[in-house]
Amino acid sequence: MLIRAANPADIPQIIALAGQSETAAHWSAREYDALFDQEAPKRAALVAVDDQQSAVIAFAIARCMADEWELENIVVALSSRRLGIAQQLVQRLKSDAQRSGAGCIILEVREFNASARQLYAKLGFTESGHRRDYYDNPREDALLLRLELQSGDKTP
Ligand SMILES: CC(C)(COP(=O)(O)OP(=O)(O)OC[C@H]1O[C@@H](n2cnc3c(N)ncnc32)[C@H](O)[C@@H]1OP(=O)(O)O)[C@@H](O)C(=O)NCCC(=O)NCCS
Repeated sequence: MLIRAANPADIPQIIALAGQSETAAHWSAREYDALFDQEAPKRAALVAVDDQQSAVIAFAIARCMADEWELENIVVALSSRRLGIAQQLVQRLKSDAQRSGAGCIILEVREFNASARQLYAKLGFTESGHRRDYYDNPREDALLLRLELQSGDKTP
């Protein structure tokens, strides 16, 4: 498995992966295309590819602002879950955010998304807010999570 920056040719596989998951953020094809638009807000998009480097098995997308990065979406293929791939993707975003000088990573997660909440807790995210009935289909609260980045922290 290899983690690399996403490119436009990955978009169909990224959309297919997002479609496998009810709890992923669902973006339109146009929003994914905008990832590579120079005029659009800056984003970091990573993919994990299999050993033959032919299939995208996971992706993560973060919006990159000067002082904070927002993890907007992360999905791992059903057949590749629980292998540490999401953890590696977030760790990579974390080191990229630190290198860019950002002070924290923030995100929103569905209250009952137990696997994602466990993942973020393991990585050190803590709850910073709560938005009632934030999501539809199904209606659900959002938890706001935050991970402070220490400038001297060089963990991968
Ligand atoms: C959440 C998600 C990205 C996790 O991906 P993953 O690659 O399977 O996660 P990892 O293997 O890196 O797991 C790292 C840790 O997260 C936690 N975790 C992950 N999946 C879990 C599950 N099903 N149940 C409980 N804990 C879980 C565990 O602490 C795990 O560490 P461990 O295996 O040593 O116990 C994946 O389940 C997914 O794609 N879900 C659908 C999309 C989604 O909900 N994205 C989040 C939007 S906010």
